[in-house]
Amino acid sequence: MEGFPYLESKESIQSYLESVAGGEGVGLDDLRLATTLDNRDKLASFRAKFCLPTISDICEGEKLAADIDSSQDCVYLTGNSLGLQPKGTKDLIVADLDKWAKKGVYGHFHDPVAWLPIEDIVVDESARLVGAKPIEVVPMNGLTVNCHLAMVSFYQPTKDRFKIVLEKDSFPSDFYAVQSQVNWHGYDPKEAMIVMAPREGEHFWRTEDVVQLIEEQGDSVALVWLPGVHYLTGYVFDMEAITKAAHSKGCYVGFDLAHAAGNVELCLHDWGVDVAAWCTYKYLNSGPGGIAGFFVHEKHAHNQQLPRLLGWWSHNRKTRFDMSNVLDLQAGAAGFQLSNPPVLECLSLKASLDVFADTSMRELTIKSRILTGYLEMLIEHYLTKEKRENVAADSSKYMTIVTPSDPKRRGAQLSLQFSFPVKEVHHQLASRGVVTDLRKDGHMRVAPAPLYNSFKDVWTFFKTLELTLK
Ligand SMILES: Cc1ncc(COP(=O)(O)O)c(C=O)c1O
Repeated sequence: MEGFPYLESKESIQSYLESVAGGEGVGLDDLRLATTLDNRDKLASFRAKFCLPTISDICEGEKLAADIDSSQDCVYLTGNSLGLQPKGTKDLIVADLDKWAKKGVYGHFHDPVAWLPIEDIVVDESARLVGAKPIEVVPMNGLTVNCHLAMVSFYQPTKDRFKIVLEKDSFPSDFYAVQSQVNWHGYDPKEAMIVMAPREGEHFWRTEDVVQLIEEQGDSVALVWLPGVHYLTGYVFDMEAITKAAHSKGCYVGFDLAHAAGNVELCLHDWGVDVAAWCTYKYLNSGPGGIAGFFVHEKHAHNQQLPRLLGWWSHNRKTRFDMSNVLDLQAGAAGFQLSNPPVLECLSLKASLDVFADTSMRELTIKSRILTGYLEMLIEHYLTKEKRENVAADSSKYMTIVTPSDPKRRGAQLSLQFSFPVKEVHHQLASRGVVTDLRKDGHMRVAPAPLYNSFKDVWTFFKTLELTLK
């Protein structure tokens, strides 16, 4: 199978797509282009590893458009919110429920997966996906809890250095975590929170502006806390440059990687990021409310001076059951655990990581850039204001992409805004079995996940979107 090239710019992706269409002698919006791309896709077989809801399953109770065949698979474009269930998940969970039924407390020590060291089953693969060493990663808690635990250790305000840099329109958990941490330490959020906005009239943060802000104000900053990928726009922060700038001013750096883990290539270790946290129910497909991930750089692995909250799972696993109450801290990220891990959640994450184990973030990125680039190209060629003015009788209905066009500054998600009520569009898409989500300010988020979405999915989304403009 031919596969796709690794492409780094919008122009190279567009010309690749145009050359494939030209080779086939078909237009850019022709289904045959999608079919050719699906035939070239080396990851196409991964789709079969997931449970794809049919339209009738997912739209149960909804009024469907009359011409829709509800026995078909839906077009699922919300892996940025909740990833699909891997087919292996149920077997792992059921086997473990059986084990619990049969072994009771002995299950802690029993194969096939002893519960006591259960986190081990996901550490190596999680570390590989975020560009970390195994000692730097642990599954634990939920994401918001992990954001707080990150700040407990890496927000150590002093009279002169007490500020936290975050972005405007941050996800509420990050905003509230930062605000409450600042309050907890007795500082005034109005003074301590540096909320960075993009330039007037722009949607994204220019790296040079972020770096300049850190250079100018860094002496008073204790922590830079940003998302890897911004949830609303899909914008990817330049984590490497930001980490470098923050460290040069003596600040700690942490990232909320909710929308980045399993979506974009990360090199947390090499970039020198201090701390990071992510949920696993989006691109990592661990299921609703799945266990979150936590990263602490190796340079902090043996630092007993870092303030932290403790529990029995922070203690060295070899002597944990001595119950001595004389702390022997586990090295690395594992030493930030408090509770014994939820076994069923570790198993459901493991089922998805087994799928990832057959590919790599580089292979996923190669496909993702072409897949999302294809979606972008279809919208830009046919559905933007300029294009609609040329062709449509009613040109007042159009859409705008509010995600960067540079493939290095985005992952699988495109956010769209519409010139007419977005709820109308969302409703029409849903009535035809196309699943997207809505967020504030009329953002529709559309995320073709390279693990299970096809080019035909993107084409169907585009054709359905076209109908909403009629
Ligand atoms: C960027 C970001 N941070 C934090 C959260 C909150 O995650 P949780 O509810 O799992 O703590 C989410 C959830 O979608 C998110 O998108």
